Amino acid sequence: MTSDSRWIDVDKYVNGVLAADDEALSAAIQASDAAGLPPISVTPQQGRFLYTLARSIRSRAILEVGTLGGYSTIWLARAVERGGLVTTIEADARHAEVARANITRAGVERLVDLRIGRAQDVLPQLEAERAGPFDFVFIDADKPSTTDYFNWALKLSRQGSLIFVDNVVRNGGLGDAASADADAQGMRRFTEALGRERRVTASVIQTVCSKGYDGFALALVNGEERRA
Ligand code: SAH
Ligand code: DHB
Ligand code: MG
Repeated sequence: MTSDSRWIDVDKYVNGVLAADDEALSAAIQASDAAGLPPISVTPQQGRFLYTLARSIRSRAILEVGTLGGYSTIWLARAVERGGLVTTIEADARHAEVARANITRAGVERLVDLRIGRAQDVLPQLEAERAGPFDFVFIDADKPSTTDYFNWALKLSRQGSLIFVDNVVRNGGLGDAASADADAQGMRRFTEALGRERRVTASVIQTVCSKGYDGFALALVNGEERRA
């Protein structure tokens, strides 16, 4: 993914001034890198943004699809209200092992329920367990399945829940109907489903950062059918 040097420099500058990452978060990234996990965790600023959103609605139950090394999970665990829990789903057992160590090092293991399995299998299990409703959902796994995960998020949420979907813009692929990128096509299907969905108020925001050009969708679950 292309990454303009200015985007890297600005992230460096802002991370320095705002001191986004403490030791536990830095250690989670270092351990993930050392274990050979892909360097695709949310950035420090995005982590704090997720934390801020989740806290602003006083989340108690948070659902994350796609744990990787648990970097975003730690931010979300720190955001939950007292007695709250982050349920996070990871298909890759090796990623989950790294995540478990990072989550434990960060001291938030009692706030995290790490489920190892494909989200396609775990989400129906959560429904069967009557888990939720989740106040905040972070969708950040295999991109072609995003629409399915979003539909599950709707099923497992409540009026006022927020659903945040990462990596929607894919270096601009979102705007290219002829894109050969399966992730971009998955996000086009998702965006079009979002446009038809009357139960949410949603927007897509383009972003640049040290990871390149991408973006996210944020959806507020409405109580009744309405359009902003
Ligand atoms: N949220 C993390 C990054 C997640 S990267 C962070 O910001 O720190 C995407 C993760 O989704 C990878 O670890 C990948 O193994 C996982 N994944 C891919 N397909 C999946 C599936 N079907 N179910 C659950 N997890 C999946
Ligand atoms: C990719 C996945 C992510 O979750 C991300 O934030 C960036 C890139 C990827 O699979 O390329
Ligand atoms: Mg992501």
